[in-house]
Amino acid sequence: MDRLKDKVALVTGASSGIGKSIATRFAQEGAHVAVNYRPGSAKDHDAALAEVASFNATATAVEADVSKREDVERMIAQVVEKFGRLDICVNNAGIEIKRPFLEVSDDEWNKVVAVNLYGCFVVSQAAARAMVKRGGGGKLIFISSVHEDIPFPEYTAYCASKGGVRMMMRNLAMELAPYRVNCNNIAPGAIATPINQSVLEDPQAKQNAISEIPWGRFGTPEEVASVAVFLASDESEYVTGSTYYVDGGLTQQVTAY
Ligand code: BGC
Repeated sequence: MDRLKDKVALVTGASSGIGKSIATRFAQEGAHVAVNYRPGSAKDHDAALAEVASFNATATAVEADVSKREDVERMIAQVVEKFGRLDICVNNAGIEIKRPFLEVSDDEWNKVVAVNLYGCFVVSQAAARAMVKRGGGGKLIFISSVHEDIPFPEYTAYCASKGGVRMMMRNLAMELAPYRVNCNNIAPGAIATPINQSVLEDPQAKQNAISEIPWGRFGTPEEVASVAVFLASDESEYVTGSTYYVDGGLTQQVTAY
């Protein structure tokens, strides 16, 4: 239970869903955890504070919009000031908007790309700068999606952003290797979290989703968090530039017809 003993970790978008599970697991593994949540939502604010209070570890909640550079730089500075350094940064914050391609507006496109792609850029740049400045390496983990690789009709902005994250991570793996900063993606499939709430609440849509999954069920956020622990730990020392699928086989497209 102490695979991350005394490491300092930041998890973005950690007040719910996959981010919350990762932050919780990291705390259980002995890390000091900064739980990021977005501004403007009392629900997320309260959830982040309750989460931090529930950890049996040093932890802090940090408000920041990952799509705003000034917020992000303040957040990284706050974490470094509180814990003295940053070892692990999980780029988890993400949003999706379902809209047929012919109807997508500029606003919708820009919003999704700003959080999912620019957010990953600016957060990992600020985090990597702190890691490189201190020396001693670090871990950048990106929660992308199976849609970093496979298409998802009516989610073009989302897929484009996640495909971008895939390539960004691979570039960073090369550029940051000399500094011993490991860069990897976790690509979740259909996980039972708030992002999928409408599907989970619609029996037909849920059944359609499950029929695409060889494992025959949605995944749990904890199943994503286990892989994040490995990628955040010293055991992944020689792992960089990879995507780990946590999707019950979804990407294998084995549906018979
Ligand atoms: C999306 C979900 C979707 C899943 C599998 C995820 O990245 O956020 O909406 O169910 O991929 O298609």
